[in-house]
Amino acid sequence: MKIIIINGPNLNLLGTREPEIYGKTTFQDYFSQLQFKHKEVELTFFQSNVEGELIDKIQEVGFDYDGIILNAAAYTHTSVGIGDAVKAIKTPVIEVHISNTFSREDFRHQSFVAPHSKGIVIGFGLHSYDLALQAFLE
Ligand code: DQA
Repeated sequence: MKIIIINGPNLNLLGTREPEIYGKTTFQDYFSQLQFKHKEVELTFFQSNVEGELIDKIQEVGFDYDGIILNAAAYTHTSVGIGDAVKAIKTPVIEVHISNTFSREDFRHQSFVAPHSKGIVIGFGLHSYDLALQAFLE
């Protein structure tokens, strides 16, 4: 099973960025744990701060991977282009957020990804990624 995690802008700063919201673990450390836990999965990871690069990656993997776990970060709330890309592909997408976006500012309540996603996991810290992965596996 081939699954990719795609992370959007500023998620490269996990570990140091607003740790009271996003925790103190770097994504690289968390990703290594996830790979170790799910050795049966061909799990890869891509991060970009650039909207077009995220769209390119979604298109690139969107017809032969088994699943995409997408945290488009701030672009979730602004990007019609990323929403359209998720709509255009065949691979199912699970939208993920580390924080509970619904307990935060109003502008975080909108998602251009959600209408085209298979499901959504929000608010469980980094564990949200594992929950999404388990959803694909089950
Ligand atoms: C986030 C929530 C977004 O609102 C925010 O812009 C992020 C991270 C999350 O995982 O909690 O960068 O997607």
